Amino acid sequence: MTQFTLFGIIALHAGTPPVVSQTALSVMFVSLGIFLVGVGFGYLAKNRESLLQHRWILSSAVALTLCAIFSVMLPSLVLYYGDTDVEFFSSLSGVTMLHAVVAAPAIIIAAYYAFGILPKKDLKKWMRWTAALWIASFAIGIFLFLQMFGLLPSLPSMPGM
Ligand code: HEM
Repeated sequence: MTQFTLFGIIALHAGTPPVVSQTALSVMFVSLGIFLVGVGFGYLAKNRESLLQHRWILSSAVALTLCAIFSVMLPSLVLYYGDTDVEFFSSLSGVTMLHAVVAAPAIIIAAYYAFGILPKKDLKKWMRWTAALWIASFAIGIFLFLQMFGLLPSLPSMPGM
């Protein structure tokens, strides 16, 4: 299920060509960089202008991430679970679901912030949660990528198993 050939290309997760997954990974690294710069601006912001810069920088990270989600991640998710012989209880499926469950609130809250529709009350608390969820989504995304490409070290098997 995780590996089959599509038009002669070795395809991984749901048939997404490796080059597409690798491009999405590079885009997500760029997005993480922009995101971290934006978070840094937020911490250092002392006036209205730097707060505005903070918001613009984070909005561009959100826009870039939404492009990757809608062009690669969501189609891959739909194709993966739309397959009739999907291995629902496999570790790849578990990591995919965990990634989606952690990442969905991160991108939704961040998009709300970008459009200025987060409640003003407890804004810092919302932002801290978003930053934590975003970084966790990225880390799980990297794990998922390594798993799809079979790059994770295999665990030593238990004696007698
Ligand atoms: C903050 C938001 C997110 C971040 C930082 C993030 C990060 C990543 C990264 C780094 C990868 C590995 C690169 C790749 O294979 O494409 C990945 C893959 C993936 N992500 Fe996300 N992601 C986010 C949101 C989401 C959401 C909202 C969903 C679905 C509801 C999702 C579903 C997937 C899937 C299915 C893959 C595997 C794509 C493939 O087959 O290549 N991600 N993500």
